[in-house]
Amino acid sequence: MRDLARKHGIRIGSAVDVAALRAEADYRHVLNREFTHLTAENAMKWESVEPERGVYTWDDADAVVANARRNGQQVRGHTLIWHNQLPGWLTSGVEDGSIGPAELRKILREHVQTQVRRYKGKIRAWDVVNEAVDDDGNMRQTIWLQHLGPGYIADAFRWARAADPRAKLYLNDYNVEWNQGKIDRYLSIIQELQAQRVPIDGMGFQGHLGIQYDYPGDWANVMRRFAALGLEIAVTEMDVRMVLPVTPEKLATQAEYYSRALTDCLSVKACREFTVWGYTDRHSWVPGWFDGEGAACILDENLRPKPAYQALLATARR
Ligand code: G3I
Repeated sequence: MRDLARKHGIRIGSAVDVAALRAEADYRHVLNREFTHLTAENAMKWESVEPERGVYTWDDADAVVANARRNGQQVRGHTLIWHNQLPGWLTSGVEDGSIGPAELRKILREHVQTQVRRYKGKIRAWDVVNEAVDDDGNMRQTIWLQHLGPGYIADAFRWARAADPRAKLYLNDYNVEWNQGKIDRYLSIIQELQAQRVPIDGMGFQGHLGIQYDYPGDWANVMRRFAALGLEIAVTEMDVRMVLPVTPEKLATQAEYYSRALTDCLSVKACREFTVWGYTDRHSWVPGWFDGEGAACILDENLRPKPAYQALLATARR
């Protein structure tokens, strides 16, 4: 896939499970053979990098960046601001009132700037704010919105830009492939940010699909609407789950979904990153989250290519 990525001038990436990266030579080998771009699946999230207040643990995040540098890969930073995987000291402090709004804003600024500065020049793009909108198209009720107001988004992008002027700064979310409420909300957030001259460079479509649902057939047009605002587009967390057991028919449908997604991305000039959320069924978030579902990746548990992998290759060869 690396050759095809080069041919098309796009980045083909995978999320990285750091435990596997360290412990499994075959996982590491295939990751570095196939992908030109990496995203830490969990290692750059707030609970990972600052589990105790003021105590930073960069080892896992550093391991991803070091692996990328050794193997000529670029890195997406995931993620600076989210409502999940926040450290306990932060959520409990906000809850019991010992961290008030002014302090919370200070903590957030410090977090954004410390992390972006640490990887200055080493991270191509940051998911600055992840999943800021809910499925009804409203601003998601998070501790950030509730305690800092909607301006936290503009603040975060400005802080990140100041910390690394060259990193591309993204919003990132799921279901933006098709959910009209989310699409409209994001378009208006972005236009508002641009009107305030807030530095925003890209929109990330996570791309968590399932074959039990229709393929989001309008996705390429949706990408174009965001691209028309002058943004980069990236597919940041692609996977296609299925209700188990696996059958040849389901694998064929899955392959078609992956292939359509890559085709959609390649058809939009601004879409130059296609990242899968884990490349092997050996390490995938899906079975732990969706009861009875799985097999969402392009390689199986033994790192053997599935039809989806072949379909991506065939699509990129066209
Ligand atoms: O680190 C602990 C480990 O110490 C413990 O032994 C183990 C036991 O369950 O849990 C480990 O933490 C888990 C962590 O992944 C690391 O494996 C958490 O329980 C688990 O909840 C966490 O799940 C991650 C999830 O985000 C959490 O929100 C998934 O791996 C990760 O793939 C998923 O990624 C998100 C993106 O960041 C944003 N978009 C959606 C996507 C899928 O949910």
